[in-house]
Formats: sequence, structure tokens, C-alpha cells
Amino acid sequence: MRAGLLWVCTGSINRGCDELPQGAEKTHIIVFANEKGGTGKSTTAVHVAIALAAKGARVACLDLDHRQRTMGRYLDNRAETMRRTGRDLVIPRHKTGDGKTAENFEGLFAELSEGADFLVIDTPGRDDPFARMAAVRANTLVTPMNDSFVDFDLIGQVHPETFKVTRPSFYSELIWETRKARAKEDGSTIDWVVLRNRLQHIEARNMRRVSEALDQLAKRVGFRVIPGLGERVIYRELFPAGLTMLDSRDFGEMGLAHVAARQELREMMAALALPEPAALTLVA
Ligand SMILES: Nc1ncnc2c1ncn2[C@@H]1O[C@H](COP(=O)(O)OP(=O)(O)OP(=O)(O)O)[C@@H](O)[C@H]1O
Ligand SMILES: [Mg+2]
Repeated sequence: MRAGLLWVCTGSINRGCDELPQGAEKTHIIVFANEKGGTGKSTTAVHVAIALAAKGARVACLDLDHRQRTMGRYLDNRAETMRRTGRDLVIPRHKTGDGKTAENFEGLFAELSEGADFLVIDTPGRDDPFARMAAVRANTLVTPMNDSFVDFDLIGQVHPETFKVTRPSFYSELIWETRKARAKEDGSTIDWVVLRNRLQHIEARNMRRVSEALDQLAKRVGFRVIPGLGERVIYRELFPAGLTMLDSRDFGEMGLAHVAARQELREMMAALALPEPAALTLVA
């Protein structure tokens, strides 16, 4: 897979193997990436960023999807809700990349890493050079996917009758090579986490099959599989006000479904197993 290594280590904008910018060593970089569109990267990224900030961590966000700007707009909407209602909400510092130059990416990466415990990076649902640059710097690389063999196809192929994994797909190979390059560069590992988004509450045969295929592939390719957010209409309705399930006090009475949603968010955060930020450890 030399092409994979070249992908990471050479080319004018693929400077992932250069010395990492100041600040990056202390900052835990969480990158949400999946070249498949619409798998829940932005929704999950915002929830993770707000959950960390609500715990008192210093969080910054970088949106690399300069066309959709879902993460940026989500956080802008949050700021607007604060202005409109006078509520005191935590809002991470955030910027959007221009998607044009490596200098822009490097500048924002350094600026946002500075003084942050966590930098949460959202990437577009397509092949993107800046998403690659972000991936090679990740400490935690989160790939959300839905319980569907259409989504699974990016990371692995299965036999049409037995649903057994036949081989990893190009995206797994890409991440594999990225991790190898990172290990060679500074000896560190990238914790690759496949996050199952939009989990259904009823046990379906398809869900079990995808789950089994994921477990097989996880061993082969070396990622962890964790549960993400459930399939809930509320996740689609929070965007205009920039709220998350953690702010449920701010959108009125909490029904049972909201309590369950907050619980699944807590479980997702625990499963991500992110480090305790230094500032919080000092206080504790
Ligand atoms: N857990 C969930 N329950 C219900 N709807 C969800 C959930 N997660 C995401 N969605 C919805 O699925 C759609 C895609 O989500 P999102 O924009 O977060 O994905 P994405 O991976 O960032 O997409 P893109 O690749 O286009 O950037 C949105 O309409 C979002 O509201
Ligand atoms: Mg998105």
C-alpha cells in the first residue's frame, strides 16, 4: 500500500507528517470522518464538543466542511439562542476552514489548538485533502455509520449470502495507512472508533448482521465499535436553536424519551474514553 503512505506523507498539502504545530501535543484532537455523506458526523461532533465543554474542558471546534458548515452553523445558532434568550450556554470557540489552502488549515489548527484541552474537527462526507490532514493528526478518529451495509461498504465488503466479511474496503485501508504513518512519525497511535449512529430501539435482523460484520472487521483492521446516538427525531430538531440533548432543561419539560437520549449520550461519551483534561484533573 505505498500509495496510501504517499497519500499521507507527500504532496504540497499533505504535510501531515511534518512536525505537529505547537499546542497540538497537549491538545487531544478528535476528528469526525467518513467519506460517506450523511452518517451523523456533524450531529455527533457537536454533541461531543458540548458534552466536553459542559464538563469544564476547554474545547475548540474546527469545521472543515466549508460548503455545508453544519458544525459552524450549529454553534452560530447556539450563540444566537444565547443572545435571544439571555441563557448562559457553553459555546466552544469555533472556526471554519476555507477549504482552499494548507496555510489556512495549518493556521486554524494552530490557533484553535492553543490553550484547548480538546480540538473537535468535523470533516465533509467526501474525499477531502484537509480531512486527510486532520486525520493524520487525530488522537481519536471517530467514524460514525448507520446500521446499513451501504454504509459498511466503505470500510468492508461482505459475502452476499453469509454476510461474512470478505475484505476491508478502501477507507479502512486509508485509515490503516494513516495510522502506520503516524506511528512511524512520532510513535503515537490513533484510536480509531467506529460509532454506530441512529441506533434503532427494536432489534432487527439487519442490525445484528451489521453488528456481527463490524465485530469481525474490527479485529482485522483494528478499530473499536461503540454505540452512538439512537434514531430520534429530536436530534433533527435541535439544530435551529443550536441546542444539544445536554441542554434539555433549556427546551422545556423532559419526557422519558429525552431522559433516555441523555443516557445514550452519556454512554457514548464514556465509550469514547477520552482523557481527562489536565485542568479538570488539577481541580479534582
Ligand atoms: N441520531 C439521529 N437520529 C435522527 N436523525 C439523525 C441522527 N443523527 C443524525 N441525524 C440526521 O441525519 C442527517 C445527517 O446528519 P449529519 O448532518 O450530522 O451527518 P454528516 O455525516 O455530518 O453529513 P455530511 O456528510 O453531509 O456532512 C441530518 O438530517 C441529521 O439531523
Ligand atoms: Mg456534516
